[in-house]
Amino acid sequence: MPPGPGPPGAVSLPRMQQTPPKPVRQIALMNQKGGVGKTTTTVNLAAALARSGRPTLLVDLDPQAHATLHLGVDADALTHSVFDVLVDDTVSPAAVVREVGENLAVLPSHTDLAAAETQLANLPDRQHRLERALASFGGRFEFVLIDCPPSLGLLTINALAAAREVIIPMQAHFLALQGVGKLLETVAAVSRSVNPRLRVTGVVLCMHDASSSHTREVVADLDRFFEAARAQESPWKFARVIRPPIRRNIKLAECPSFGQTIFDYAPGAPGAEDYRALAEGLLREWDAMLSRRTAQPAPPPAMHTAEPPVPEIVVPSPPAAAEQPR
Ligand SMILES: Nc1ncnc2c1ncn2[C@@H]1O[C@H](COP(=O)(O)OP(=O)(O)O)[C@@H](O)[C@H]1O
Ligand SMILES: [Mg+2]
Repeated sequence: MPPGPGPPGAVSLPRMQQTPPKPVRQIALMNQKGGVGKTTTTVNLAAALARSGRPTLLVDLDPQAHATLHLGVDADALTHSVFDVLVDDTVSPAAVVREVGENLAVLPSHTDLAAAETQLANLPDRQHRLERALASFGGRFEFVLIDCPPSLGLLTINALAAAREVIIPMQAHFLALQGVGKLLETVAAVSRSVNPRLRVTGVVLCMHDASSSHTREVVADLDRFFEAARAQESPWKFARVIRPPIRRNIKLAECPSFGQTIFDYAPGAPGAEDYRALAEGLLREWDAMLSRRTAQPAPPPAMHTAEPPVPEIVVPSPPAAAEQPR
């Protein structure tokens, strides 16, 4: 009998090579305040990543369907939307996804999504519906960017349960800082209960005007806040103000009405330059993380057992009248 580990008569099978699951970077772009640049950032960052050759899915989780329209998809002509995916188990996410460009797809929204909050509330597993839907894509996409509605309801909780990271688009003025505190409390609550792996990657400054001294003061406050957060365990321990900021640029405001991203509408505009640079920075850090992971298997993610501190953000005094944010 040949030597071998198995009992006599056992067939020795070649050992299967386990291929690790393809890593997917799932990011929720979240801010409960409207008009801060969430949709503009989600769409143009997704487009920049896709143009870098990374298969990217944008999930439009806002009932206003602005991201869907921005990508040139007529929300009213859809038979199904992300709403159906969330509330109806018989609707396959793959059948609802629309390809809108090379490497770029959208899970579109519809105004019906406004009813989803109520319908979701009655469903089992109501916080994990989006997470399950996205898992069904396996490794089809390398990046999944979720455009959140301007609220902290069940739709946003679904985004935070599905995502690994949070990026906060905001405008640097004093009122916005107060909102960030509330937002971080929500992230902390979700990371304690629904999704312990959730981390805040940082803030993207939108419609940025670096010439204003008030803006500079707010950015310095944010830098100090995140620096101080490094001392304690919290989901924003490694968060930062992500550079470069996105300058105010009229071309970014114009392109949604043409159903085009900034790269199709005005590829030479400062808006295109800024979103390209933002994507390049995120890609550099992602690729570096992936190569470290290949070199050495990553330890299991740390769980947040300690209570994250309640975020305290220093709110600077209101700007002088001449500098009131628009
Ligand atoms: N960098 C920018 N420069 C000029 N206008 C912008 C810029 N970013 C966003 N906008 C415009 O500001 C408005 C609000 O942005 P949007 O992305 O829709 O915010 P949110 O999704 O947070 O509600 C939109 O009309 C958008 O076109
Ligand atoms: Mg929006």
